Amino acid sequence: MNIAVYPGSFDPITYGHLDIIARASEIFDRVIVAVSINPGKNPLFSLEERAEMISRECANLKKVTVECFRGLLIEFVREKKASTIIRGLRAISDFEYEFQMALMNKKLYPEAETVFLVASPEFSYLSSSIVKEIASFGGDVSGLVSRHVAVKLQEKYRG
Ligand code: PNS
Repeated sequence: MNIAVYPGSFDPITYGHLDIIARASEIFDRVIVAVSINPGKNPLFSLEERAEMISRECANLKKVTVECFRGLLIEFVREKKASTIIRGLRAISDFEYEFQMALMNKKLYPEAETVFLVASPEFSYLSSSIVKEIASFGGDVSGLVSRHVAVKLQEKYRG
């Protein structure tokens, strides 16, 4: 069985992430969306809140499961017996960070390959950070995230 892990902070999940998940689930036998901590980011939602939003959005994708992890990505990948790490690539600006992470993960655990899926053009400008910025000023995020996620964002910023 070909198991892929799609790791990220997903703070919150956007239509760009969902596009990558749906496409990955066409390629692999099983896709584990792995919600984790990026030490360089200060999250708005807890890991559990993020996982709940993703599970809801992926309920119709039978090959997809959602989990949280707190340690090193490669330890999680090893534990799950996954062969592949999926990452989405939007613009050239993503590349340097993604390149470094892919090479480091390969050094730490050579058994797993990182596979990049290029973002669909309609989502190439989209990021969780820009969605949060728009929502924080009361802007309209429909078309970028689901209705449920938009409501969760509203609750956070209103609260
Ligand atoms: O969506 P993001 O914020 O770009 O995802 C980054 C993430 C969470 C995948 C990365 O920070 C990560 O792998 N964190 C777990 C800790 C780890 O393994 N760090 C070393 C990466 S080489």
